[in-house]
Amino acid sequence: MTELINVNYQLGVARLRDAAVSLCFAGLPAIVLADAAEDFYISTIESIVQSQCIVCHVAGGQADAGGADILFTNDASANYVAFKGYVNTPTVGARADRVLSKITGGSGHGGGAVLSQTSSSYEAIAKYLELIVEGDDPAVNKVLRVFLEEPVSGEIHAGVGNLRGWAVATDGISKIEILVDGAYAFDAPYGGARGDVGGAFPDVENSDESGFALAYAYSLLTAGPHTITAIAHTTLGETLESSADFEVVKFASDFIADEQAVDFSSGSCSLSPAEISIVDATVEGSLYDVVLKWRTAAQGFEFVEIRP
Ligand code: HEC
Repeated sequence: MTELINVNYQLGVARLRDAAVSLCFAGLPAIVLADAAEDFYISTIESIVQSQCIVCHVAGGQADAGGADILFTNDASANYVAFKGYVNTPTVGARADRVLSKITGGSGHGGGAVLSQTSSSYEAIAKYLELIVEGDDPAVNKVLRVFLEEPVSGEIHAGVGNLRGWAVATDGISKIEILVDGAYAFDAPYGGARGDVGGAFPDVENSDESGFALAYAYSLLTAGPHTITAIAHTTLGETLESSADFEVVKFASDFIADEQAVDFSSGSCSLSPAEISIVDATVEGSLYDVVLKWRTAAQGFEFVEIRP
């Protein structure tokens, strides 16, 4: 029993749909921006392009003859791709300012001043350029989240319990590393069913199979404070971590193999609403005072104090 027990743990059960999940994905709305840019192009920009630009910016037109990199057709979707491609070359947003300058007659625009800076068409193009840039910014657009749910930060753990959480990434999760007190311990099995996480990240592929979970022998750690960290690695090599500081309580042995070794008959017991306190319980021949507390997450009583 000095090893971890890896269990095939299905985490879809209702009790795990705790508040923690819903707290951990601030910043999601950015995901929709790529579509917002296209919608805005079709609804507002295409008509400006057709009325103000295409006369020159078309194959064989004045701008084509002048060597312009930005030409349009009568296909709105293709025009969206062409406009966006121009603005995002060589990097996201690189030529946004150039567009604004050219259309107002700056930067030696071959077509002169097409729009005034105070016109609604100019404002619309400026807004469109912002949408393109935000929607294509990988830092805004991509999702990478990891959350270690158990051990629970600030709580007390004893015996063999769960070590579990979830991780999602737009680029896919390649592995979950577990560190105990800062040192690498093992990789956690990843891919357990998490319908709740899937519901929270509908745009991230496989987010409904984003759980990691195993049985973990907290009793192998020393009594006192510890930290466990889960590091999620994406397939592109990005990492993000989630940690929990908790405390371990334990009997002298890491694992009590003898079934007769625990004897409470010598002890006395007192009860409070959520706790059972036992004085002078015998465990492996030694006397302990212990406290058991009701734990919602575990749906059972767990040791929160073990005193020799
Ligand atoms: C009367 C003709 C004409 C009109 C109308 C016109 N342009 Fe141009 N545009 C040109 C020519 C010619 C060039 C090539 C010379 C240059 O780089 O300015 C050009 C170049 C550009 C460039 C630089 C392309 C590059 O290769 O970097 C941008 C951006 C641009 N135009 C945007 C627009 C937009 C947007 C509109 C509509 C709002 C528009 N233009 C309307 C003639 C026109």
